Amino acid sequence: MNHVTVMAGEVVEALAPVNGGHYVDATVGGGGHSEAILTACPRARVLAFDRDDEALATAGARLSRFSDRVEFVHASFDRMPEELRARHIESIDGLVADLGISTPQLDQAERGMSFRHAGPIDMRMDRRGDETALELISRLDQDELANVIYEYGEERASRRIARCIKQALERGELRSTVDLRRAVVRAVGPRRVGGLDPATRTFQALRIAVNGELQQLDALLAAAITLVKIDGVIAVISFHSLEDRRVKRALLNRAQWQRLSSKPIVPSDEEKANNPRSRSAKLRIARRIAPEMMFDDDVDISTDSDWPPEPESER
Ligand SMILES: C[S@@+](CC[C@H](N)C(=O)[O-])C[C@H]1O[C@@H](n2cnc3c(N)ncnc32)[C@H](O)[C@@H]1O
Repeated sequence: MNHVTVMAGEVVEALAPVNGGHYVDATVGGGGHSEAILTACPRARVLAFDRDDEALATAGARLSRFSDRVEFVHASFDRMPEELRARHIESIDGLVADLGISTPQLDQAERGMSFRHAGPIDMRMDRRGDETALELISRLDQDELANVIYEYGEERASRRIARCIKQALERGELRSTVDLRRAVVRAVGPRRVGGLDPATRTFQALRIAVNGELQQLDALLAAAITLVKIDGVIAVISFHSLEDRRVKRALLNRAQWQRLSSKPIVPSDEEKANNPRSRSAKLRIARRIAPEMMFDDDVDISTDSDWPPEPESER
């Protein structure tokens, strides 16, 4: 299945691309946000990043008609500053990041991201080298594995789950994503919390750990401060509270950013009905400000309205 782009209209409205402007799409995926920017502005340029070479191939085909204004870069967030430097781009007019995984990544059994398809326990977005989820499970001891499941999946039964996964591994019974799900079910039973599969949080946790997703997001938010020019805009879409909390905190720095919306923007009811994956999406947007300009806003950093956290669900 193709990836359906989330809140494309809202992102373009926030970035308000201008002719001659340089924009970064940090997560080009199927190319939807880049396409929206390039279509909205006939002389805007996009540098489109993804760490997944298959995503770049898909986006490249979709955006071939814009080939004189878009360039694709096979790199993750932490390499963005050096990739821009290598192209002599000192600053950008806007940046969009649509976090997490794409529908093709979730749907392809051989990528091992989903408990719905039998595949290798892989979960890497970038298949050039990182450790697979199975290698991670083998390397960590039981307590370390429990910590990963607790921290990145916010899973209360993390200790029991880690024990059952390690047992399955030792018995040679951990060969596929279906085996991994079975080990989770053995630990917690076939419970469904709010319609979620019992393996949802554990799969999310392992995927976040394998891909270093939170460290990558921190690198992106740090790079954005130096890369986005004064008056440029950042737009970040997140799909679970571990990500959204980080984005929220970064954009609350009033010496660097002026938030363009005090609350996160969420998809319309119509978009949620048409694209169930969009239901958990939150878009946060902010304008880069000059260091001496500080705006007063009604920020309350002590409250986290998104508590208790929701995992990203496989729908
Ligand atoms: C939700 S999809 C983006 C979909 C895209 N906006 C569209 O409309 O088609 C997220 C993409 O970001 C990529 N990605 C996630 N983390 C990344 C990172 N740290 N560096 C580069 N790409 C990343 C994934 O490989 C995936 O293709």
